Order: sequence, then structure tokens, then C-alpha cells
Amino acid sequence: MVLGVAGGIAAYKAVEVCRRLVDAGVHVAPVLTADAQRFVGAVTFSAVASEPARTSLWDAPEPIPHTHLGQSADLIVVAPATANVIGKYAAGISDDLLTATLLATRAPVLVCPAMHTEMWEHVAVQENIATLRRRGVHVLEPEAGRLAGGDVGAGRLAEPGVIAETALALLAGGIGALTGVSVLVTAGGTREAIDPVRFVGNRSSGKMGHAVAREAARRGARVTLVTTTTPVAPIAGEIVPVESADAMHEAVMAHAAGADVVVMAAAVADFRPKAVADQKLKKGDGVPEVVLEPTIDILSALGRAKRPGQFLVGFAAETESVVEHAAAKLRAKNVDLMVANDVAAEDSGFEVDTNRAVLLDSTGRALELPLMGKDALAGLILDRVADAVAKKEPQQA
Ligand code: C5P
Repeated sequence: MVLGVAGGIAAYKAVEVCRRLVDAGVHVAPVLTADAQRFVGAVTFSAVASEPARTSLWDAPEPIPHTHLGQSADLIVVAPATANVIGKYAAGISDDLLTATLLATRAPVLVCPAMHTEMWEHVAVQENIATLRRRGVHVLEPEAGRLAGGDVGAGRLAEPGVIAETALALLAGGIGALTGVSVLVTAGGTREAIDPVRFVGNRSSGKMGHAVAREAARRGARVTLVTTTTPVAPIAGEIVPVESADAMHEAVMAHAAGADVVVMAAAVADFRPKAVADQKLKKGDGVPEVVLEPTIDILSALGRAKRPGQFLVGFAAETESVVEHAAAKLRAKNVDLMVANDVAAEDSGFEVDTNRAVLLDSTGRALELPLMGKDALAGLILDRVADAVAKKEPQQA
């Protein structure tokens, strides 16, 4: 991957983008414009990237670095992309190594603009962005926030983590098993209100569902994550925050019809207080009696509404007879793949980063997995999903 860095104050954030991508196993070749080097030295990128940073058409070891870079890249990311580079790219001007490389490639390009609000909103810049989009260039919109000099407004470079995740999703685009597949994931434990300040909850952190959502996006899926907890690391997808089982049910049902795959990793409450007090319950009024009623079983509702070709993944958190209970749930809820785990074990289940799971499928096959990180388990679950999606495709054709 070529990481193009243009001359804006956000150039320092590109170092973080570079580091994250290298950590994810990407070979990153940085290309800095002359002005980028006024903000960050080429040595910094050379130290973090997979190969030394290039800065010029003329002093690289190879005679025609732009064609070499453009032809060998699987993806070019420009972060930050200044109004100047965007303008030159849109106009087809190639007066330095970065702009020449952009014209010399057929690889996908991700442009991450960063500039002052006035510049970002200028009609010239907006028209150039529209031109690039029309040509198939991916644009990661800048965020609103604090800008150089203390101003506040639209134009701040997207977060480095989001840029890296988007780049990984685009890299998976050609070969990813989930390219174009729409995946709906739920995560976290629901909170069922007793009164305006108290709730009935559970110990789920949401880590497992977040790992599935992140990995699905990295494999090129269009991801919607309905979650009760905020992911600690970025996820390239739509995030729908919810709190209660009812709100999760509503959000899931609104998105389920358009989803090819639904992964219900959330720990949804089975019961909720029947009546929610309008005001905070007072200690002086004595010990309240909280009467519970069942919530809607979202997974069962999804199982009933499942359309042909849709793939449904459920989770079964058990404390005993894990496989038997999970197999019964798989049948009862019309699920295609059940991820069963023993939440009584210390290294598995709630709050920790590892999980020990059994994968049960609708043919009755049970695959017992060793203790592994939730990221690795997410990968194995999505391998199964990808297999199922690939098998479905010939029937559709
Ligand atoms: O039957 P049990 O609640 O143990 O099944 C767990 C699975 O069902 C999980 O995938 C969980 O997300 C889902 N579930 C649900 N709605 C509920 C309870 C559980 O979708 N009200």
C-alpha cells in the first residue's frame, strides 16, 4: 500500500495510520510531498513504515518511482489530502511523486481530506471531491472538531484508527470473502430500567461482538453494529447505539431484512422490570418489589423471519452442559451457527479478551475450539459465514 502524505498539520497523524497498518500486516510504502516534510520528517515515516519514505520523482533509487509504485500498489491512501493535492488529482496534474503515482495507478484510492473549514467548504474543493467520487475514488470525509490555530469546524482529518480500518476493508475488497456482503452484528449486555437511574444488567462487555464487526468490515463486508457499549477500537461501519432489549429489538428488526448475515453476539436480558418508575425510587419508601416480565427473544424472532439464503449466528452463554443446551437453542431458534461458550470459566466469556467456544452447525457438527483471543474466534466464525455465503452464490446466479 502506498501512503501519500500531503502538507497539512494533520501529517503527524499519518504516522499513526502508518503504524496501525504495518501492525495489521500491511506493507506500507510512504510518499511525502515537499510540504509534508515541513510538518513531519521523512525519517519518522521510514522508521515506522515497511520501506524508506520516498519524497521525490528524482532522487529515488529507481528511475521511474511513480510507475513502479502505482503499478505495484493494491491501494493508495492519501492522508492528509490537502485542497492542493485534491485539486491537482482532480485536474490530472502530476508535478511531484505523489500526484504522479496517483495518475500511474489502477489500484483503488482512498482520499482523506484535512483542511480549514473555509477551504473544505469552498465550491472548488467540493467540486473536485465530487469529480473524484464520480471517478470511483473513495473519500473518507473529514470530521468536525478542533482545527489548527484553535478554530472549530468541519475539516479535521478522520481518526487514524478509522482511516486504517477503512484501508484494511478496501484492501480486502479484491480477495475478501465477505466483499459486498451485508452483516448485522449485535454486541454488549442490555440494560433494563427500574427507574431513571437504576437498571437490571449483565456483565457482557461487548468485546466479542465488536471483534466480529471489526473483522467483518476488514473482510469487505458492509457492517451495521447495534451495540450497548462503545467499541474501544474503531470499526469501519454504521454504529447504532442502544440500551434496552426493546431498543435492540427495534434496531435489529429495522436492519435485518437488508442483511445477508446476522450475528447476535449481544447478551440480551431475558427479563425486564414490568413497570419502570417515572421518578427515582426513594430509600425511605422501603424495599421496592421489582416484578419482572419476559423480553422479546430477538434471535427467535430473526429465526422466524429468516429469508432463504440469510445466515443467522447465535451465541449461547452456558454454565453447564454447554453443547447440549446450545444444540437445543440452535434448533429452537432456527439458527445456522451457534457459538457456545462456558461463561463459568475464568478465561472465557464475559469481560476477558479470550474465549473457549464450541461451534455447532445445523448439520449437528460440533467443533470444539481451544482457548483463543476474541479476534481469532471472530475470524473463525466469519470463515464459516464466508463458506455459507460462497455456497449460496451459485444458486442466486
Ligand atoms: O436462550 P439464550 O438467551 O441463552 O440464547 C442466547 C442467544 O439468543 C444469543 O445469541 C442472544 O443474543 C440471543 N437472545 C436474543 N434475545 C433475547 C435473549 C437472547 O436475541 N431476549
